Amino acid sequence: KRVILSGIQPTGTPHLGNYLGALSNWVQLQRDSSPNDTLLYTIVGWHALTLPQDPKKLLQSRREMLATLLAIGLDPSRSIIFHQDHNPHHTELAWILSCLTPFGKLKRMTTWKSRLADSRNANNESEVNESLLNAGLFTYPVLQAADILVYRATHVPVGEDQTQHLELSRDIAQIFNQTYKRLFTLPEQLSTPSKRILSLKNPATKMSKSAPDVQSRILLTDSHTQIKAKIRSAVTDSITGVTYDPETRPGTSNLLTILGACTNREGREGSDVAADYRSKGHGELKADVAEAIEELLRGPRSEFGRLREERGYLDDVAKDGAEKARALSEITMLDVRRRIGLS
Ligand code: TYM
Repeated sequence: KRVILSGIQPTGTPHLGNYLGALSNWVQLQRDSSPNDTLLYTIVGWHALTLPQDPKKLLQSRREMLATLLAIGLDPSRSIIFHQDHNPHHTELAWILSCLTPFGKLKRMTTWKSRLADSRNANNESEVNESLLNAGLFTYPVLQAADILVYRATHVPVGEDQTQHLELSRDIAQIFNQTYKRLFTLPEQLSTPSKRILSLKNPATKMSKSAPDVQSRILLTDSHTQIKAKIRSAVTDSITGVTYDPETRPGTSNLLTILGACTNREGREGSDVAADYRSKGHGELKADVAEAIEELLRGPRSEFGRLREERGYLDDVAKDGAEKARALSEITMLDVRRRIGLS
């Protein structure tokens, strides 16, 4: 019996990287799961607060993320879909776990280290500007561990960028088990078959919601015209012909990865796709990539357009999901409180 859990931040519209790297796998797992499996998918509003958010926009993004999850095919009668901030057990457990987490482990998180580096660059000094960094950014991975452990999840489908956070979750679970009586199973990462999707403008970095250039990402809400324009202007190289070589040709290879992932649910490798383009050029590749993305997103996009207006329905789904989630996490919390002497 598996307990599958994953989360996504409600910061703006999800992009193709989120979809191919994570969300499509959530739907696939729902399809392949046995009736004994529990599936939990959460929209992590508390994690979003680690960066400044406009309250009105956050409320809207949070609702739109729920509409997105439904639009791509998650079924609330099969999967427990809920807002993290509707279940206080996450923060309760996060506090308890933070008292077991070595400071040094958090300091080694690459996400934290890159935030530190950003705060240095912004001031062009060797000193870290502490006023740019909040404590939540530092303890972010502990809250993520709590999201997972509070349901005693066995499997966590995430993209490769979350591997270190998953390792930390296992470390924290182990520390709890050693300090108290064994309670947590160690959650296993389920990597999505398709690789990391890169920025269309700077293929040295991953496609991200926060990159300033909106041309660098395809949004799940983009029209056919927008998709075509963004792919046409994607950065490639001036080498003739199309080959798959992520080291020397990251832009071209990223397009092949996208094409492979869009045209095959199991995630055909970019290297396999390249064979079809041996005698073709970037122009043809780009045209095919744009069509494949359009093909993939057309259904979810129109479903999203319909659902985002259905406020009452979305509120009902969220309320129902939160109730189911809380009933499950309460069982863990009773156990946790008893073990630590706070029952
Ligand atoms: P977030 O919101 O940044 O991303 C959600 C999911 O999308 C994947 N992803 C990508 N995959 C491939 N290519 C990309 N360019 C790309 N960008 C994002 C991420 O790997 C992720 O699976 N900390 C998490 C949210 C979280 C969570 C959790 C996840 C909070 N609690 C508990 C799992 C379990 C995050 O920031 O994801």
